[in-house]
Amino acid sequence: MRNPPPLKLGILGSGRGSNFIAISDAIRARQLHATVSLVISDLADAPILSLARARGYRTWACPAGRFKTKLEPDLEAQLAAQLRAADIDLVILAGYMRVVKTPLLAAFPRRIINIHPSLLPAFPGLQAWAQALAAGATVSGCTVHYVNEILDGGDIIAQARVPVLPGDTPETLHTRIQAEEHWLLPAVVGRFAAGKSA
Ligand code: GAR
Repeated sequence: MRNPPPLKLGILGSGRGSNFIAISDAIRARQLHATVSLVISDLADAPILSLARARGYRTWACPAGRFKTKLEPDLEAQLAAQLRAADIDLVILAGYMRVVKTPLLAAFPRRIINIHPSLLPAFPGLQAWAQALAAGATVSGCTVHYVNEILDGGDIIAQARVPVLPGDTPETLHTRIQAEEHWLLPAVVGRFAAGKSA
């Protein structure tokens, strides 16, 4: 039987891009049968874009528009059109810090996943690691889930647990959560690449 073609990924991020790097590294190491077809940021100066360019990937900076927390519908439609034109199989939100709305959701039904730094449904929203610490949680972690119209509310695909240690600061806890993100997200993408329902 012939191997299936590599899964074409569209990766969206607003920040450092360490989860994007983890996916790219897994592809380079031939642990993940996928290709990064397009990297998009809503912030033109986000490190994820320069990292992607340095690795030779195609990038696009989406106009940011008037709001910080969401794209206006016409801008999100432009973003969806970029992904469609690149024939993307799976859209990955890797530190993309805006709520996703109908234009993108309708263009990629059940083909958008997100990595979130808590054990959802606990601590949706911003700085989930700091929320967990402030709430006195003894365990936190990260979640990969399908994206729907509810913030961090789509069906959960996979989770990894991280203990909260005495003396943890938001930074130390986030660092350990990210270490888990960096294997969990490529592993989930690998399930899509293998054609298994995630
Ligand atoms: C990650 O920890 C990710 O879980 C989080 O942003 C960070 C991005 O890091 N995402 C969210 O909080 C989304 N609600 P990265 O840019 O280094 O991949």
